[in-house]
Amino acid sequence: MEFSCKDFKVGNVEGEKVLDGETIPLVLKPSEPNKSDLASLLLGLKNKKDWFEQMIIKNSAVLLRGFDVKNAEDFNEIIETCGWEDIRYVGPAPRTHVYKRVWTANEGPLSEFIYYHHEMVLFKDNPKKVILFCETPPPEGGETPFVPSFRVTEKMLKEFPEEVKLMEEKGLKYSFTALSNNNTGSMRGRGWQDAFGTSDPIEAEKRVNALGMEVEWLEDGGMKTIIGPRNLTRVFEGRKERRMWYNTIVGMHGKEFSSATMADGTEIPEHVVKRCGEIIEEESIQFKWEKGDVLFFDNCALLHGRRPSLPPRKVLVATCK
Ligand SMILES: [Fe+2]
Repeated sequence: MEFSCKDFKVGNVEGEKVLDGETIPLVLKPSEPNKSDLASLLLGLKNKKDWFEQMIIKNSAVLLRGFDVKNAEDFNEIIETCGWEDIRYVGPAPRTHVYKRVWTANEGPLSEFIYYHHEMVLFKDNPKKVILFCETPPPEGGETPFVPSFRVTEKMLKEFPEEVKLMEEKGLKYSFTALSNNNTGSMRGRGWQDAFGTSDPIEAEKRVNALGMEVEWLEDGGMKTIIGPRNLTRVFEGRKERRMWYNTIVGMHGKEFSSATMADGTEIPEHVVKRCGEIIEEESIQFKWEKGDVLFFDNCALLHGRRPSLPPRKVLVATCK
C-alpha cells in the first residue's frame, strides 16, 4: 500500500510480511527529512490520532522509524499524546519503573529467550496495546519477534481439529509457581512479594484472588497460583472475526515452574504442544532494532517474545488499555 500524508511516509523494514494484503509491521517515517524531530512526530500523532489507532488494529503492528526519540521522557510524551489509558503490568517478569508511564521491558538475563505471549494473557484485564521503545539496540540478536495469533489457530485447526475442539470445549487450566525470594538471576525469579506488591501472604492471596486466580502455598514459602478455566482462543471486536490463539500452552506446558492442562485435568498431548511451538516459530516476524524505534503492537492480535541478545540492549515498554 502506498501511503503518504503530510505527517508520515510509509517505509519498509527487512523482515516485514504481507498477510491478507496488510503489511506487518506498517512502517511510518518522517514525511520529509527535516520532520524527524520529536515535536513534528507528536504533532503528526495528534493530527492523525484516530487514523493511527486504526492502523495498529488493521496492520496489527506499527513501527515508527527515523524519528528523533532519545529517551524515556520522549517516549512518555509519545504515549501521552496517543492518549490511551494506562494499564499497570501484573505478572512474573522483573520490571523497573523508569519514568511516568514507562517501564523497563523484562529484565531477565539477555541470554534467555522470552517465550511468545500475549501480554498478561491470563488476567481478566489485559492491555490492548503494548508499546516498545528501543533506546539501545543490541549489537547482535535481541529481536522482538511477533506472531499473528490467528494464523496459529488456523494451522492448529487444520492439523489437530479434534484436539483443538476438545481444548476449546473443556477450557484450559494453568499453574504457575512464584518463588519466595527475589532472585532476578532467573527469568522467573520475581518473588511473589514483588509480583503482587506485598510481603504479607494474606494480602498477596487476596490480590491473587481479585485477579480471578487461586493460591496454594508451598512448603518452601513459594506461591503456586492456579489459573482457570481459560479459553483456548478469543475473537476480538474489529479484528475481522479472527480467532486469536489467546493462550499460553506452549510457554507453560510441562515446565519447571508452570503447567498447562485442560480445565478438567486432562493432559494436553506432548506432540500437539511441540507442533504448536513449531507453528508459532514458522509464523514469526522480526526485524532488527534501530535506535529510536517505537513499535506499537495490537496485543489482541499478536504474540511477542524476545530473542537472546548480546549486551547492551535497552528496550522500554508502556502498556495501554
Ligand atoms: Fe511481553
